[in-house]
Amino acid sequence: MAKIVLFCLLSLLACAAGQRITTIHLDGVQYFISRMNPYSPELNYFLAYQYCRSLGLQLASFETKEKAESMTTYLKNAGYGNYDFWTSGNRLGTGMFLWMSTGLPFNATFDFFENSADAIQAGLLDPVDHNSNTSPQRTARDSSSGAEKGCVILKQPTLKWMPEDCSAVKDFICEQTRCYYYNYGSIPVSSAQG
Ligand SMILES: *[C@@H]1O[C@H](CO)[C@@H](O)[C@H](O)[C@H]1NC(C)=O
Repeated sequence: MAKIVLFCLLSLLACAAGQRITTIHLDGVQYFISRMNPYSPELNYFLAYQYCRSLGLQLASFETKEKAESMTTYLKNAGYGNYDFWTSGNRLGTGMFLWMSTGLPFNATFDFFENSADAIQAGLLDPVDHNSNTSPQRTARDSSSGAEKGCVILKQPTLKWMPEDCSAVKDFICEQTRCYYYNYGSIPVSSAQG
């Protein structure tokens, strides 16, 4: 029993389904790309997140230009450029885009959004220069925090970033993330302790 569990952890098996999964290592990051796995379904954002978690992974975040570019280039070269892929990016709960799996806002030093209006809402472009007729600050605050166009895909064929309805059924990219920011000072306690 323990052997099976260990085997599952080591080889990143989808234990529930008993199927072997394939992950790739790209620039030091381990990714699971649903398209590479014939038994992996296309899913909505929430179920894609759950699927990644069931593999011990998270939906992928693209915090640096290099990471975003290497994934985009890989997907195109590997023949996956004609599919949309969920990332962990969303603006659920606020008008602001965040990478859900790292908690980081979108990186202001580069912008891979397909449309500049989305980049403005993500705070990546100066609204004055690019959208003088409207008031993006107000738009951002007032925008619905629902699932409509609330989650970010890599959109084929350019694989640039595009907000999409979170309920849309898409391929997805999971990654192994680590938290570098905190030391968890754990206090050993027992359940009998008050
Ligand atoms: C933002 O992107 C730049 C360029 O890729 C990178 O050097 C920097 O570390 C990124 N910042 C964060 C907070 O990830």
